[in-house]
Amino acid sequence: MNQSLNLAFPKNITVVIKREDLIHPFISGNKFRKLKYNLLQAKEEGAATLLTFGGAYSNHIAAVAFAGKEQGFKTIGLIRGEELASKIQDNPTLKFAQECGMEFEFITRENYRLKEESSFIDDLKKKWGDFYLIPEGGTNALAIDGCKEILTENDADFDYVCCAVGTGGTISGIIDSALPHQKVLGFPALKGDFLQDEICTFVKNNNWELIHDYHFGGYGKITPELVTFINDFYKQTKIPLDPIYTGKMVFGIMEMIKKSYFQENAKILLIHTGGLQGVAGMNTKLKNKKLPLIQIHD
Ligand SMILES: Cc1ncc(COP(=O)(O)O)c(C=O)c1O
Repeated sequence: MNQSLNLAFPKNITVVIKREDLIHPFISGNKFRKLKYNLLQAKEEGAATLLTFGGAYSNHIAAVAFAGKEQGFKTIGLIRGEELASKIQDNPTLKFAQECGMEFEFITRENYRLKEESSFIDDLKKKWGDFYLIPEGGTNALAIDGCKEILTENDADFDYVCCAVGTGGTISGIIDSALPHQKVLGFPALKGDFLQDEICTFVKNNNWELIHDYHFGGYGKITPELVTFINDFYKQTKIPLDPIYTGKMVFGIMEMIKKSYFQENAKILLIHTGGLQGVAGMNTKLKNKKLPLIQIHD
């Protein structure tokens, strides 16, 4: 569903947001797109178990846990950070995943870095038996195929399509399904130049650019300014944003409009990729630090 932003923009600019966050209550936004063909493939291979990786507040972990419960797969989550093993009940994401039936293995940050190595995967198979492996963030070729379904023929009029970037899978699907006159702008939620090369390995088209100015210090980092922006945006539009991905992207777009990045009459489509389950975890951290909370409910 595309929703126009009822805000005043200069230069007759139009901004519309695609509410992918509303696709599914628990497998929201890009997670639904990324899992769609992976779940079909897992079934075709006769897999009984899905195994995947993620951090403490991972949207992907929550989505895989729920999808497994809904579709009859056992799910295993390898979680970055051994210290989290004793904190499941204090972590809304892990608690939810566990309630969906996900079993966890908590691993050190060093071991987490080995997660793509075949000897590491072989050891996992010895421990857990056979499984269908879904990479961190859900990004693989099948996930990108799913993300190619985000844009539809009704989106042909837009000049720009904008989305948040984590592992690069979502934007890759969007890049290769965008029309030749459309420019795709990606807003990395983390620091570093490696994403440019990573995305190049996935895509055919070159109608895209990464905007590196709105990561707010890096992955999972936020500032009071971002929290205020998300809260004000909700008050004005009733659209909830998450602080890790979509909040940073929408903040960036609003700044770029102010700085005259876009031409007269530009039509901009923002992709809301979900991630709202992560707000509870972020608010727990903000509360502990006695900082203002994200308020995206009436
Ligand atoms: C809510 C949300 N938006 C955007 C992204 C970025 O997607 P990708 O990892 O495919 O770049 C993620 C991470 O997967 C996410 O959870």
